[in-house]
Amino acid sequence: MDRYLVLCSRVVTCDPACSSPDNRLGVLHDAGVLVEADRIAAVGSRAQLLAQARDARVLDDSAGRVMTPGLVDAHTHLAWAGSRHDEYVLRMQGAGYEAIAAAGGGIVSSMRAVRAASQWALTAAMRSRLRRMASLGVTTCEIKSGYGLDLPSERKQLRAIAEAASDTGLPRVIPTWLALHALPPEGQDDRAAWVRRVAERWVDEIAGDGLAKYVDAYIDRSAFSVEEAKPVFERARAARLGVRAHIGQFADVGGAELAASVGAASVDHLEHVAASGLEALAKSGTRAVLLPVASFTLRQAPPPIQAMRDAGVPIVVASDANPGTAPTESLALALAFALHTYGLTPEECLLGATREAAASLGLEGTCGRLAAGLSADFVVWDLPHERAILQPWGSPMTHRVVGRGRLLHSAPVS
Ligand code: NIG
Ligand code: FE
Repeated sequence: MDRYLVLCSRVVTCDPACSSPDNRLGVLHDAGVLVEADRIAAVGSRAQLLAQARDARVLDDSAGRVMTPGLVDAHTHLAWAGSRHDEYVLRMQGAGYEAIAAAGGGIVSSMRAVRAASQWALTAAMRSRLRRMASLGVTTCEIKSGYGLDLPSERKQLRAIAEAASDTGLPRVIPTWLALHALPPEGQDDRAAWVRRVAERWVDEIAGDGLAKYVDAYIDRSAFSVEEAKPVFERARAARLGVRAHIGQFADVGGAELAASVGAASVDHLEHVAASGLEALAKSGTRAVLLPVASFTLRQAPPPIQAMRDAGVPIVVASDANPGTAPTESLALALAFALHTYGLTPEECLLGATREAAASLGLEGTCGRLAAGLSADFVVWDLPHERAILQPWGSPMTHRVVGRGRLLHSAPVS
């Protein structure tokens, strides 16, 4: 069995067992992790680990470097094809996202590219994206479908996601079926019938395939209503699938209350959400997934962060990687915006991309912290302090990225 010790100047465990009010991230100094196969066998000081594992290989990364749990990106649309560079330029010159979508661009233009792509091409694109994300410190990634918009194409996306997920040399993948993302052209004539088909037929078909852990819906003024999403979510829960939801990106139409009522794992975006919605989320234990790259691209004001804190809604930060509103693969960039523009504290940013993100994906017992018994998912950064991760202008600053005990990325030797 492969057994090795990785030592670092600072080890940011993100583990409540190591934290205190003035050490919220559970930072240990001159410490490390002992890895056995794909698990963390122990976390502790250098002296303690060297005494415990005399026969283990030692990787001494301690020269001024910091170690964190592998980053967890809890909201991405990585299974896309094509490119929307022309739409991006139009938007930068003043065209609105909703207006472009109404004219047949936006999500529906990615739909055309996904419908035309083979499953193999989607998997290949995702593999490249996941490889680059690993080089930026990500060891777990949620991926949504939602650009197929008919049953065969949604299934093609989910099968492509499953294929990418089977590669243990890439980040761990959590698949989500984005059931209601946009109305496809064939649904325009009879919207109610199309939505009914999704709720009454597709949910059970997709649940039967076993290729999705969560069902998602985009609930907003130019997307789907609470009344349309409700039967989809209820059917998903009955089929033992979890729920995530895009809500309040442009307007609060009551999505938070609906998501809370079905025990959703997360609600995402939340630029617009009322106090009553936040209260409902806090009660149901639903996490808020903030997507600051999307609101930067769309030049939107930040979500009501202080109201979220006051209500006690746990905060996650994710990249929203997609070809329209968040053209990035970098979760660290999202963290930089969360700090810069949303006013999150460094601790909220880092926990939001590790422990809280993992919990929002049902992975609290698997990853998101450095603790004995968890999966060996960690990053050694070529940076002296975890706060430097939040200033990612420029090159990827990872030195060594390990996922499930395997080296996913290492910096080129200079
Ligand atoms: O999370 N808001 C809806 N969905 C995506 C955007 C998808 C797209 O534009 O392709 C989002 O921002
Ligand atoms: Fe999204």
